[in-house]
Amino acid sequence: MATKRHITLALQLVVVALVLSIANGKGLKLGFYKKTCPRAEAIVKSITASKISLAPSLAAPLLRMHFHDCFVRGCDGSVLLNSTKNNQAEKDGPPNLSLRGFQIIDAAKTAVEAACPGVVSCADILALVARDAIQQIKGPAWPVPLGRRDGRVSIASESRTLPPPNANITQLKSLFASKGLNVKDLVVLSGGHTVGTSHCSTIASRLYNFTGKGDTDPSLDSDYVPFLKSKCKPNDRTTLLEMDPGSFRSFDDDYYTMVSKRRGLFQSDAALLDDKKTSAYVKLQAQSHGSTFFSDFKDSMVKMGKIGVLTGKAGEIRKVCTLVN
Ligand code: HEM
Ligand SMILES: *[C@@H]1O[C@H](CO)[C@@H](O)[C@H](O)[C@H]1NC(C)=O
Ligand SMILES: *[C@@H]1O[C@H](CO)[C@@H](O)[C@H](O)[C@H]1NC(C)=O
Ligand SMILES: *[C@@H]1O[C@H](CO)[C@@H](O)[C@H](O)[C@H]1NC(C)=O
Ligand SMILES: *[C@@H]1O[C@H](CO)[C@@H](O)[C@H](O)[C@H]1NC(C)=O
Repeated sequence: MATKRHITLALQLVVVALVLSIANGKGLKLGFYKKTCPRAEAIVKSITASKISLAPSLAAPLLRMHFHDCFVRGCDGSVLLNSTKNNQAEKDGPPNLSLRGFQIIDAAKTAVEAACPGVVSCADILALVARDAIQQIKGPAWPVPLGRRDGRVSIASESRTLPPPNANITQLKSLFASKGLNVKDLVVLSGGHTVGTSHCSTIASRLYNFTGKGDTDPSLDSDYVPFLKSKCKPNDRTTLLEMDPGSFRSFDDDYYTMVSKRRGLFQSDAALLDDKKTSAYVKLQAQSHGSTFFSDFKDSMVKMGKIGVLTGKAGEIRKVCTLVN
């Protein structure tokens, strides 16, 4: 009997998990704040515009911040929370996420709170800022359905569930699948690496000690290695490397050209050549100058923005994005 009850329980858990995964994004809608805070989206856009025009290099980390938020506990603003005396938050987690641009989220939140206190969530503000920032550096603008609510939990160790830069294609596919994203989303969203910078330390082992024998990753174009080594000396922990040299501040389709030439910065970028579907996509975009990349990116960003959201009465609307109420 006990076994039977266990099986029933297991089945119920499977059903709950399925419903949860299908329910990704349920309760979000375009223009969610139309009645309750009609100027919210315009306020966020104008704050983002003024900040990004002063510091265009912050657009990339803001996109990455949204990705990290969504991949850890769903898009619930957990990445924005500060550590407290008794809890180390995601943003201070190992790996140190090297995220930047929190002050822009805080500025947007302050301005929105002044117009409509307690109405617009930090998770929604982050989703809007990421979109507006990328649009401002010549990227595509995707629709952002709203109505996310803020979580109350942020745990440093959970940031380990983010894909590491040395992930192989099998790990990447299964990690994305666990968030309800498919192989196409993986190759499309990886195109986010067309903007921004990486620390030399992130690729040090690829350049200098790949298998522990002082060697270089053979999947890296050997003609590109001297360039990377000239930028990044061994043990350099501070220098920033442009993800897409020459156009790291503008959102374009160069990423796929780089990856197809085996010049992607991370093993996770190179790994996209190890699967039939992802490598076909990389080659197609490289040959066609990104014919469908922008429209695909919009679709996948909408999907990513729905991962594990809290809606309805779940969670809360934080007063300040760095603190739970
Ligand atoms: C597919 C798995 C992914 C891995 C393994 C990965 C890994 C990384 C790593 C290691 C860095 C550099 C950190 C540093 O050294 O400072 C980085 C930067 C970045 N990532 Fe990813 N990432 C992935 C997917 C994504 C996605 C889905 C997006 C957004 C759609 C994204 C957007 C970015 C951006 C914009 C930067 C540059 C940030 C800056 O300029 O500070 N990444 N990523
Ligand atoms: C959150 O942490 C940041 C960086 O450490 C700090 O500047 C900010 O004042 C903190 N916010 C609050 C509300 O404590
Ligand atoms: C995390 O990274 C930031 C920015 O690169 C740096 O200022 C900070 O000291 C790092 N924190 C830890 C704990 O390594
Ligand atoms: C990918 O990495 C995992 C974990 O390190 C390993 O078990 C697996 O064999 C690797 N797969 C491939 C195809 O390299
Ligand atoms: C390379 O890696 C091996 C094995 O992890 C380590 O013993 C060695 O000290 C490393 N060499 C350098 C130069 O970091």
